Amino acid sequence: MGRLRLMAIWTAMLAGFSVYFRSVESLQQPPDEEYAERRLLVNMTLLPHSPSIGAVCLDGSPPAYHLHRGSGPGSSNWLLQFEGGGWCNDFVSCLERSRTRRGSTRYMNKLEVFSGILSDDPNMNPDFYNWNRVKLRYCDGASFAGDSHYTNGTIILHFRGERIWEAIINDLLSKGLMRCSAGGLATFLHCDDLSRILPDFVIVKCMSDAGFFLDVEDISGNDTISPFFHNLVNLQCFFPQYNLPFIRTPFFLLNSAYDVYQLNHIFVPPSADLSGHWDPCKSDPAACTPNQISILQGFRLEMLTALTSFERSTAEGMFINSCFAHCQSELQDTWFAENSPRIHNKSIAEAVGDWYFGRKITKEVGCPYPCDHTCQNLIPY
Ligand SMILES: *[C@@H]1O[C@H](CO)[C@@H](O)[C@H](O)[C@H]1NC(C)=O
Ligand SMILES: *[C@@H]1O[C@H](CO)[C@@H](O)[C@H](O)[C@H]1NC(C)=O
Ligand SMILES: *[C@@H]1O[C@H](CO)[C@@H](O)[C@H](O)[C@H]1NC(C)=O
Ligand SMILES: *[C@@H]1O[C@H](CO)[C@@H](O)[C@H](O)[C@H]1NC(C)=O
Repeated sequence: MGRLRLMAIWTAMLAGFSVYFRSVESLQQPPDEEYAERRLLVNMTLLPHSPSIGAVCLDGSPPAYHLHRGSGPGSSNWLLQFEGGGWCNDFVSCLERSRTRRGSTRYMNKLEVFSGILSDDPNMNPDFYNWNRVKLRYCDGASFAGDSHYTNGTIILHFRGERIWEAIINDLLSKGLMRCSAGGLATFLHCDDLSRILPDFVIVKCMSDAGFFLDVEDISGNDTISPFFHNLVNLQCFFPQYNLPFIRTPFFLLNSAYDVYQLNHIFVPPSADLSGHWDPCKSDPAACTPNQISILQGFRLEMLTALTSFERSTAEGMFINSCFAHCQSELQDTWFAENSPRIHNKSIAEAVGDWYFGRKITKEVGCPYPCDHTCQNLIPY
């Protein structure tokens, strides 16, 4: 019997990002158009009984996932993709979220496009197309963590990320995930917990797409991000740079050195640029002044410095390119296409596949802006 394989992917996708991005280089032609006819739409599976065990979205609605079955030699392998979508960190922001698709399955699309790493087409997703591929919908507001609730007397907000995670994994186990009992399912938010609950013959590897949030001060010297994360339920040690050295499961980091979410919300938040000097640069890198570019290079260097020891270990993989983007594994154009981003002529799909299957050691770091001409710069509106 061949070994069973599993890969879990954490995406840190900005709310609404997959809908409201534009590609600076190809404004006339929306990137997805070319693939529109071949789009794979996958139905939502709701977990209708989960409210009885308290596994609910922020607003109390049942959680959900989308599953597309694998086939042939891939049919015993599983790819779990955790949807991203920012966080809420207080009553007001979580209440607002509970009335959107980020906090309630009531408002979510019932059909999801499976593209990029979720595609079932070998020409678009050469290594994982025939695996069982699952997209776990994100509706708890705190990255599948937390187990509590809050009420102000009239309104209840549910913070049940851990229970959602557990309910979904249990449901998938009953549908053949690993075809074996995983034993007591405790809390396994982290990659290592996932590999611990699965038997030894399962090869578990994990990947983060755009999740490498740096612990940096913003350009005005204010610490914008860490107070925000400190308010999140149950998310101690959130910053990946402090967690990475302790992860034992093979890990792949996919990130842009100029991650546009981080630039817009952490490094150059509106509070640090009241006069709006950075607005043109934020919406088009070609409009950045030389001084702004050199500040951005400083951010890139901080990221690379934080990755120094990660880069040295052999089981790990990385692809840090210099594109203005956020999340690159799910969009076909950035994952694997003729004009997709490359480092040393290697696409993201090839880099991830080489690492996952141990074909090559994959530690790709792109040269600093503006030298990378393969970028699909994806800037949010
Ligand atoms: C999704 O599910 C609905 C309801 O079960 C069904 O009517 C529809 O045909 C399905 N769509 C696809 C694309 O499978
Ligand atoms: C709870 O919050 C909601 C929304 O802000 C508000 O309408 C309601 O009056 C609050 N309830 C109490 C008891 O404060
Ligand atoms: C500093 O960051 C906080 C967010 O953590 C923000 O509320 C505040 O306005 C910022 N202060 C300055 C002076 O930029
Ligand atoms: C880059 O890779 C593509 C396909 O993977 C190949 O066709 C092309 O010749 C390569 N270019 C160079 C310069 O190696």
